[in-house]
Amino acid sequence: ASTVNTSRIDHVYRDPHENPPLKLVYGDLNDASSLNHLLRQIRPDEIYNLGAQSHVRVSFDIPEYTAEVSGMGTLRLLEAVREAGLKPKFYQASSSELFGKVMEVPQRETTPFYPRSPYACAKAFAFHTVVNYREAYGLFACNGILFNHESERRGETFVTRKITRAVAHIKYGLQHKLYLGNLDAQRDWGYAPDFVEAMWLMLQQELPDDYVVATGEMHSVREFVELAFEHVGIDWKRHVEIDPKYFRPTEVEQLLGDATKAKTQLGWAPKMGFQDMVRRMVAHDVETVRRHVEGHPPVVHERRND
Ligand code: GDD
Repeated sequence: ASTVNTSRIDHVYRDPHENPPLKLVYGDLNDASSLNHLLRQIRPDEIYNLGAQSHVRVSFDIPEYTAEVSGMGTLRLLEAVREAGLKPKFYQASSSELFGKVMEVPQRETTPFYPRSPYACAKAFAFHTVVNYREAYGLFACNGILFNHESERRGETFVTRKITRAVAHIKYGLQHKLYLGNLDAQRDWGYAPDFVEAMWLMLQQELPDDYVVATGEMHSVREFVELAFEHVGIDWKRHVEIDPKYFRPTEVEQLLGDATKAKTQLGWAPKMGFQDMVRRMVAHDVETVRRHVEGHPPVVHERRND
């Protein structure tokens, strides 16, 4: 992109003591030649493929693009690995969206998939491609089937961050209404830093495998809203309105994961609970808006965007 968009990684990217420094390079999952070139040049030990058009509702508007990036992009990356003659460990960001219209509760590694969006269909293709490359070429490739994971850095159009940002703006009188879609949807929401640890653990094992990563607790969007507004002492019913434009043509009504395999084989367990995570996200957004309102915008770093 021609605009600077490193704000979510600046604490690492701009740290002068980071050794070796984090290096950003240009590449695109839709551009096989860029992937081939980068792999030959870098010869990585580990690859974490988190690249995607990852917004489920948006995938109904741009299905072909979503399939290209999130589905075919994974295949291109794996082909680039093979063509470069490398054997890196490979992590694929698979998703609980694969379970879609759930066939059993809770969902585990053996639960059949029932994708409900172009995004989930693309992720299903990527999931099976990773398994196939593992079996066909002996690649150390793992699928992490991650349930929703949130944090202060969550993109602003996903429901959790949309809510916590709105709460902060409403508290300071900068916004009055929050328009949402389906409040009855239920999700197993974890904290992103905990989940990233699980990704890393998968690549430190002796053998590659696929793992569900989840908290085992399910909450509705309505509960998230109630809790977020409660933290600032505001009655949510006065501010939240339903706008059908946020409904999805086919919805995933509920997701609940069983992470027993990750717990026993990886020794993984989530550390942050649901309530603390909501509180943390609200506190972060309230603080950001407070600084802005009181004329103390966040420190702007010197530009470094090559
Ligand atoms: N985004 C959004 N905006 N979602 C809303 C809204 C709204 O205004 N109102 C209600 N929802 C409901 C959605 O219908 C959905 O059921 C739920 O809130 C969660 O929506 P998102 O936060 O957009 O996440 P997601 O569950 O669809 O997908 C996320 O998690 C997946 C892992 O299970 C994404 O991060 C995916 O990329 C990821 O694979």
